[in-house]
Amino acid sequence: MGIDFGLDLPELQTDPAGTFRTLREQCPVHHTGHPAPHYTVSRHADVTEVLRDSDIWKSKFGPGLAMRGGGVLVSSDPPKHTNERLAITKVFRPSAIDEMRDDIAALVGRITDRFVDRGEGDLIGLLAMPIPLTVMCWLLGTPEEDVEQFRNWVLPMAEGVSYAQGRAAPEVAAAYENFFAYFTAHVRTRQAALESGSAVPDDMLTRLLTVERDGSRISFEDVLGFCQFLLVAGSATTTLLIGNVLHRLLQHPDQMALVRADRRLVETAVEESLRIDAPVHGLFRTNDAPVCMHGVDIPMDSKVLALFASANLDPEVWDRPDEFDVTRDLTQLRKHYAFGVGIHYCLGAPLARMEAQLAVNEVLDRLPNLTLAGTPTLVKAQVLNGFETLPVTWG
Ligand code: HEM
Repeated sequence: MGIDFGLDLPELQTDPAGTFRTLREQCPVHHTGHPAPHYTVSRHADVTEVLRDSDIWKSKFGPGLAMRGGGVLVSSDPPKHTNERLAITKVFRPSAIDEMRDDIAALVGRITDRFVDRGEGDLIGLLAMPIPLTVMCWLLGTPEEDVEQFRNWVLPMAEGVSYAQGRAAPEVAAAYENFFAYFTAHVRTRQAALESGSAVPDDMLTRLLTVERDGSRISFEDVLGFCQFLLVAGSATTTLLIGNVLHRLLQHPDQMALVRADRRLVETAVEESLRIDAPVHGLFRTNDAPVCMHGVDIPMDSKVLALFASANLDPEVWDRPDEFDVTRDLTQLRKHYAFGVGIHYCLGAPLARMEAQLAVNEVLDRLPNLTLAGTPTLVKAQVLNGFETLPVTWG
């Protein structure tokens, strides 16, 4: 039986769990030619195989549907990838993230001060978006107020993953144009300061421009690639996470009550949200050799979508997978695939977790009687899962 599936399937946004269940049960290796030929794997065991066996399943043609070479991190393989990860590992090690805790807590407080008296509003635009974007400004050495420009670029750039050619829309073209104009100038200014021996901030950008591996520096194009990837990967996903966990708690008053009664459960609620509503449905790999899975021949150089979000709901691994339960065992829960698995495992995971936990605690502390007010709108970037707006009232 032919199962209809593609990242543009409307049901993927409205009922991801049901869509993934159909795939896992009836078509574990799905093939389609639309909008470009690719395969999709959805079972936990198959997603694990694709993500873990990086000798066969390569990233060098990019994490999206388009065959695109020449990027960094999620678009590269060892040994280039190993060097790129080493260049920024220090910035993301848990102790470095821990050192940011007080600053991020203060930021969350300042952002909430701006809107707390209004009694109503969209929690994505007011809270979930500015927190991670401001932290990215700190890491990339740009002024905090530039969040207002960046917020318009992030989602249009993120949606590129699901298109073979890229969508011809003015906001997508504008996002890329504005991003490259801004960051080319920003990186050149920092480079000039470094060359002239002026004082520069000790941030990730300085590190990217000065780090040496095997006697060579990261190229200018790759530094821009890092900035683009980090701006999108570090902010859009965390915004979705904050929106998703708050939405689930609002939909499940019994779970909200448990979290209010025992704040240690905020950590579990965030982790359970990552499992049940992974902000990234999945990403692509390209196989370096022919592979046969479940009787389906996948020719060499095929694009294969590994659905992290479906693996997180696979009943072979998870008990009551479709139930949002903030009392699950945290150690088990952390084995979800929302941050990927294997050599590309998300470096920003501790930062995203911390931002989301601080945001949820702030909402519980400062927005009493929080209630959904109207229908939240879903993000349009097909590979992402979550809300573009989350209208609520409080007070
Ligand atoms: C809830 C928030 C986040 C989610 C769901 C998420 C998800 C992911 C996933 C699924 C991957 C693996 C990609 C692959 O296998 O191809 C990844 C990689 C990565 N993420 Fe995140 N991410 C989040 C937040 C962040 C943040 C805050 C940062 C940095 C500020 C970040 C930086 C990275 C980096 C650098 C990689 C690339 C690792 C590599 O290719 O070796 N992420 N992320």
